[in-house]
Amino acid sequence: MIYLTRRPRRNRKSSAIRDLVQETTLQVSDFIFPMFIQEGTNQKVEIKSMPGMYRFSLDTILEELKEVTDLGIRAIDLFPNYAEAKKDKYASESYKEDTFYLKAITAIKEKFPELVIMTDIAMDPYSSDGHDGLVENGEIVNDATIEILGKMALAQAKAGADILGPSDMMDGRIGYLRDVLDREGHTNISIMSYSAKYASAFYGPFRDALESAPKFGDKKTYQMNPANSREALLEAQLDFTEGADMLMVKPALSYLDIIRQLDENFDIPIAAYNVSGEYAMIKAAALNGWLDGDRAMMEVLMSIRRAGAKCILTYFAKEAAVILDK
Ligand code: PBG
Repeated sequence: MIYLTRRPRRNRKSSAIRDLVQETTLQVSDFIFPMFIQEGTNQKVEIKSMPGMYRFSLDTILEELKEVTDLGIRAIDLFPNYAEAKKDKYASESYKEDTFYLKAITAIKEKFPELVIMTDIAMDPYSSDGHDGLVENGEIVNDATIEILGKMALAQAKAGADILGPSDMMDGRIGYLRDVLDREGHTNISIMSYSAKYASAFYGPFRDALESAPKFGDKKTYQMNPANSREALLEAQLDFTEGADMLMVKPALSYLDIIRQLDENFDIPIAAYNVSGEYAMIKAAALNGWLDGDRAMMEVLMSIRRAGAKCILTYFAKEAAVILDK
């Protein structure tokens, strides 16, 4: 026997002791469940690159939400899929009062008044260019985009959204949106800013779901370079100063260091988006029998919490809720 003052294994010797010393916890109330909606009735279309995830029509999403809320999930993030014919250069469908997305928000809120509804602010699902901002002469123009986002934000607030999620990465949009909302009396509508949103390959399956891939070029003039972290601090600083209620990092897994830095530097809640490609990777491996999908999922979610995220947007919300409930 060797003499050791410290034997860290003592704190791992039984399940009860391991639980006693566990530093990070994960709860169903930490989850925001992203869901996809499309026009029509009786639709539930599986997304090829996201097994187990669907695009619903309003009637089927209301049924699905019964199951979702019964699992204890209390927040969703709703994304619309628009037919190509409804798209234009100015994303004008996004703020038409009778558009299906806004009507769905109102209908869901009516049926599930306690459910937190987060919405997405960006032009891409409605844009014939497939970009988050307005395209002029092949370039994304910042300030004109923000005015369109303002109309979108007001329309979503009126429809009943609780949290707006600007995912567009234009400069100055948080301050502009806060001002537009406040002027119209929407002082209670929260803003969760996609502060550090990286130009990532991991959004591929999401763009399949929304059929919203850019028609030309890429998103690198507005989304961030994966090589940068100081820039994330600047983006977060601006969003914080402009009035964001929560700051988000996206994607999550390749950016755990960014989550940690934001959590250390800002005294508002940090969220992380466990994006479509991160979901697809685990699903693909699990379906091939190459790893234990449930364990990998729980490990990933816990790691995002450990890095410093208070809440997690994740397509795993339902499956993780089932496990956490046991
Ligand atoms: C678009 C938006 C994207 C996601 C959320 N909002 C994709 C993009 O920027 O192209 C990605 C979510 C995911 O991959 O799960 N404004």
